[in-house]
Amino acid sequence: NEQTPQEHTLDNSLALLKDGYDFIFKRRREMDTDIFQTRLLGQKAICIGGKEAAELFYDTTKFKRSGAIPKRIQKSLFGVDAIQTLDGDAHRHRKMLFMSLMSRERLDVFMQLLAEEWEAAAGRWERLEELELFGESQELLYRAACRWAGVPVEEETARQRADDMGDMVEAFGAVGPRHAAGRRARRRIEDWLEGYILDLRAGEFKVPEDTAAYAMAFHRDLQDRELDARMAAIELINIVRPIVAIGRYVVFGAIALHEHPAYRAKLAADESKYRQWFVQETRRYYPFTPFLGASVIHDFTWQGHEFEEGTMVLLDIYGTTHDPKLWDEPDAFKPERFEHWGGSPFDLIPQGGGDHRGGHRCAGEWLTIDAMAVSLEYLANRLEYEVPAQDLGLSLSRMPALPESRFVMRSVRRKQGAG
Ligand code: HEM
Repeated sequence: NEQTPQEHTLDNSLALLKDGYDFIFKRRREMDTDIFQTRLLGQKAICIGGKEAAELFYDTTKFKRSGAIPKRIQKSLFGVDAIQTLDGDAHRHRKMLFMSLMSRERLDVFMQLLAEEWEAAAGRWERLEELELFGESQELLYRAACRWAGVPVEEETARQRADDMGDMVEAFGAVGPRHAAGRRARRRIEDWLEGYILDLRAGEFKVPEDTAAYAMAFHRDLQDRELDARMAAIELINIVRPIVAIGRYVVFGAIALHEHPAYRAKLAADESKYRQWFVQETRRYYPFTPFLGASVIHDFTWQGHEFEEGTMVLLDIYGTTHDPKLWDEPDAFKPERFEHWGGSPFDLIPQGGGDHRGGHRCAGEWLTIDAMAVSLEYLANRLEYEVPAQDLGLSLSRMPALPESRFVMRSVRRKQGAG
């Protein structure tokens, strides 16, 4: 592979932890390239970024996911052998199950539940002097997610369960205690929901057929078998956990509103276009997924670069959403840019690219966008609050990114007559 820029290091895993979201992007800038070769976790890796790279990465004839996702990520973030690791017909069949939960009607039901939970949370917050939006929004999203998914919410455990869901996400870019906490959280939640799936199958509880709990409990695979109860629990977690993770975007939206207060009035106005643009810009601008990994199925050549069978390939998600070739002033927060966005499936890729049904693109992207719009409407229009001095800076070397203060709010009040 003489054509491909290479880093001559024994292994770059430590640099990856240090550079975090900027690991691939920084090297792309330094070498002025959209492709380079390095070594990570003891093996050769090709890193790619940009729109054409994203198009390549989502070609399922060239890349597969089985064997591409490290076990430590599966044991914390995703669940072992879950949908993220499937390929071909098995993947398409499982993905249909997830997408069947995302009809317009079912999304509207979620948004109604979410609005109720915002209202209930605001009532609780009015009695507090001060609160952290991150934990609070994860909890209210957890409550809405469970009600929507057919999972019982117990008052005594709700906050702990919500924190457990959040800790699985917190684990992904960490080594040491933060990673270990995510694994423990996953074990607790899998144990609990595996029991629940077995109870559903035994008829001890009844849930509506259009819920995720029902779908996972009674789904049949291509061989017409039920999912193993543990796997059904893992896939149910693949619905609830990422809904809870929208709390990170709620915090990012709150930071953006705080730093660009002129948008408050625009978001509150009847016109919804600003809400859409603001949501898209929040997803583009703030760091969440750093990169994605896949493995080369057969040797092929792309733009003169050789990809050998079995090579690990990483797609630069953060760098693609900040690529100056794709975004004018990429490091400025400018929702209006979306007035002229062409809607390509390969440039705005914070939740993956390509096609939702045929590939691995996030099953919950539409739900995320709508849930952020509902949440921003609350923050901008229905609530009054103070933002005391605190450190809201985001470090690109902390994966996943989160402000140290987790967004402290003070003296929260519901506005009279809002909405
Ligand atoms: C996959 C991001 C919310 C369910 C993904 C992928 C990313 C992502 C980057 C991987 C795409 C790929 O592998 O090519 C996010 C972000 C979210 C979010 C940043 C914001 C909180 C959600 C929600 C749900 C969800 C709310 C469900 C309700 C899934 C599932 C997959 C997935 C099931 C696996 C899809 C597959 O492998 O085919 N998400 N997601 N996500 N997401 Fe999300």
